[in-house]
Amino acid sequence: MSTTQQRQANLIIGAGSGIGGAVIKRLVDDQPDADILAVSRHPPMLPDELAQRVQTFTCDYSEAGIKDLVQQLTPWYGQIRLVVISTGVLHTDTIRPEKRAEDLSMSSMLEVLRINTVIPSLWLMTLLPALGGSTPCRMLTLSARVGSISDNHKGGWYSYRASKAALNMVVKTAAIEYARRAPNVKLVAFHPGTVDTALSKPFQRNVPEGKLFSADFVAERLLTISSDLPVDGDASYLDWAAETISW
Ligand SMILES: NC(=O)c1ccc[n+]([C@@H]2O[C@H](COP(=O)([O-])OP(=O)(O)OC[C@H]3O[C@@H](n4cnc5c(N)ncnc54)[C@H](OP(=O)(O)O)[C@@H]3O)[C@@H](O)[C@H]2O)c1
Repeated sequence: MSTTQQRQANLIIGAGSGIGGAVIKRLVDDQPDADILAVSRHPPMLPDELAQRVQTFTCDYSEAGIKDLVQQLTPWYGQIRLVVISTGVLHTDTIRPEKRAEDLSMSSMLEVLRINTVIPSLWLMTLLPALGGSTPCRMLTLSARVGSISDNHKGGWYSYRASKAALNMVVKTAAIEYARRAPNVKLVAFHPGTVDTALSKPFQRNVPEGKLFSADFVAERLLTISSDLPVDGDASYLDWAAETISW
């Protein structure tokens, strides 16, 4: 594409996620003026109409892999207007969110922290030089309301809660450095609500009627909310209704 270097871009990291995939579909329909850059661990299986519009990148989410991927984004440096970091785990074949003290294990907790906190943190830090410039940019990291320390009334899910609380702290801290070094970037820790994806599947039974959102609904909310957000040099912790969550 000969005009790539002049075009603005949206960058979706964790493009294989239910929410990230839905954001990409929305962007294809709603934002023909910008490139769509999709990063995932595996080449995404996109239908033809999306494949023509989406530039895909694979990354193993290692430190070296993230650095290398950010290098590949050089043609879009200073032109990226939206970043969505949508990686995360709640359960795997071997990991279950803890219900009680005895469920906690070092290996599971470290793995949840690696995926939910360390990987998004590496993206936040490594992308800094790619985002600075005059293009206003909103960078949303998928957090969760259960990461709020002040809003924790139910307990349980030690590792997932801790991983999202730590992620929130990284977002808040990074916003201070971004305000100095890349003041055109707004950082957001975003709670999408309970969304009908693989991540929430085993836990959907107790979700109240009308509170299990489709990924497409959340993608619309995320894009609408982010486009209206002032770039104010501070981090925001927002839910799908644009309500502020207390840290
Ligand atoms: N669904 C919900 O109800 C809900 C609620 C609150 C918060 N969230 C947050 O929203 C984000 C997206 O959730 P989702 O529901 O769309 O989840 P999802 O469909 O299960 O996707 C999660 C993504 O995380 C990445 N990932 C999974 N395992 C990984 C591993 N071992 N190492 C590195 N990356 C891995 C993958 O990205 P790639 O395959 O693209 O590499 C995967 O597509 C997560 O951070 C989640 O915590 C979701």
